[in-house]
Amino acid sequence: MTDLQSIADHWGKGDVYARILDQMALAGINPDTVTLEQLAPVDHFHARGFPATVELADALPIKRGDRLVDIGCGLGGPARYIAKRFDCHVDGVDITAPFVEAANKLSVLVGMTGAVTCVTGDGQALPYGDAMFDGGYCQHVLMNVADRDAFFREAHRVLKPGAFLALTEHGLGETGDPHHPVPWSEDGSGAYLMRPDDTVAALEKAGFTGITVTDTGEKYLQGYRTAIELAEKGQAPVFGTHILLGKLAPQIVRNAARNIEERRTHPVQIVSRKAG
Ligand SMILES: C[S@@+](CC[C@H](N)C(=O)[O-])C[C@H]1O[C@@H](n2cnc3c(N)ncnc32)[C@H](O)[C@@H]1O
Repeated sequence: MTDLQSIADHWGKGDVYARILDQMALAGINPDTVTLEQLAPVDHFHARGFPATVELADALPIKRGDRLVDIGCGLGGPARYIAKRFDCHVDGVDITAPFVEAANKLSVLVGMTGAVTCVTGDGQALPYGDAMFDGGYCQHVLMNVADRDAFFREAHRVLKPGAFLALTEHGLGETGDPHHPVPWSEDGSGAYLMRPDDTVAALEKAGFTGITVTDTGEKYLQGYRTAIELAEKGQAPVFGTHILLGKLAPQIVRNAARNIEERRTHPVQIVSRKAG
C-alpha cells in the first residue's frame, strides 16, 4: 500500500457519512434542518475545532466573490463556514475519499453545493490549473506531508499573484519526537513534522513572502484540557470528533496535550502570500 493510501486509511475508512448520520441521530440532530453550527463539533476536524477556524478566518483578507482552495479539506466544515461567512466559493481537496464523499453530502444537507466543491486529490499534486485562486489555506494537514517543497510549490502554482496562503499545524517541537498515538498517526508512520522555522524557510523557497507565525500551543492546550476534563466527568458531547478518531480517542487527546506540554510539538498558525 502506498504511503498516501495508508495515510488516507488512517483518517477515514468505510462509510464516514453514514457514521456521522448515525451519531447525529443519537445526539437528536435532525438532518433535514441541521445547521453549520450543529455540524461544527465534528466537521471542523482540527485542534480547538470551530473557534480555531473562526480565528484563522479573522486573520485572512478574504473578499466577497473570492475563489479559495482548502487543501486537506476533510469533511468540509471550514470550507462551508468560510464560503457562507464571506459569500465566496471554496474548492476543497483531500486524499481521504470517504471524507470527500461525506463533505459533499454534508454540503447537500445544508444547501451549499453551489458554494463548496470537494474532490479527492493530493496537496503535493493539486488537480487545479495555474493561478486559479484568490487565497488558500490548510488546517492540520502538513503533519502528514512528506514533500513540503512539492506541497508549497503546488499551492504557489494554483494561487494568483498576491494571494494568501495560510496554514495551521503541529510543528515539531524542540525536545524530541511526539508520543504516539496522535491524531495524524497511530505509531509515527506517515508523520512528517517539521520545525516552524523550517516550514517558513520552505515557504520562502516556494516564493511566499510577508510570513507571520503565531504560536497557538497555549490555546490548543486549553482546548485539549477542557476535552479531557469533560471526558473524565462523562460529559463529552455525543456529537464530537471521537467518532472520527476511533477507540484510541482518549489516548490521542491526552498525548496531543502532553506533547505540547513537553515541547515535543510546537503548534503554529502561519499566514503568507504569494509574491506578486
Ligand atoms: C486533521 S484533518 C483536517 C481536515 C480539515 N482541514 C479540517 O480542519 O477540518 C487532516 C486532513 O488532511 C488530509 N490530508 C493529509 N495529507 C494530505 C495530502 N497530501 N493532500 C491532501 N489532503 C491530505 C487528511 O486526509 C485529513 O482529511
